[in-house]
Amino acid sequence: MDTQLEGFLNTLGEAERAGGRVLHELTAEARALELRELLKKAGHDEGYYAGELSAHVRRLGGIASNKTGDFVEKVRAVGGFRAKLELLNRGQRWVIRKIEEQIPTIADPELRAFLSVMAKGHHVNIGALEEALKEGLL
Ligand SMILES: [Fe+2]
Repeated sequence: MDTQLEGFLNTLGEAERAGGRVLHELTAEARALELRELLKKAGHDEGYYAGELSAHVRRLGGIASNKTGDFVEKVRAVGGFRAKLELLNRGQRWVIRKIEEQIPTIADPELRAFLSVMAKGHHVNIGALEEALKEGLL
């Protein structure tokens, strides 16, 4: 497969794996039950996206990375639960930007559809977390 596309999908997969790990850690820290549920669900989404990205890489003849991105360490290094959640949302916005940049260059229709749904799912989870933060759930 195209090495640029393989690299892009693997970078995204590593970021999603990191996001899943971060969300798992933050879920355990959340006191508000609704926030905890929201983080748990977003973490499952990240795991799903990571798995699907690997599947697309393999389907297209590439080698799927199983690494975890350095975002985990970045979030761990931030002090304060709220600041960690805000960094999480910035990371999620980065994922949307990267997808939007790449989609016009992607010819494979299944991959395009998946990435488009993945970007929309990120919008939903970002919005839900923003709302929870506005409501003061921590
Ligand atoms: Fe993500």
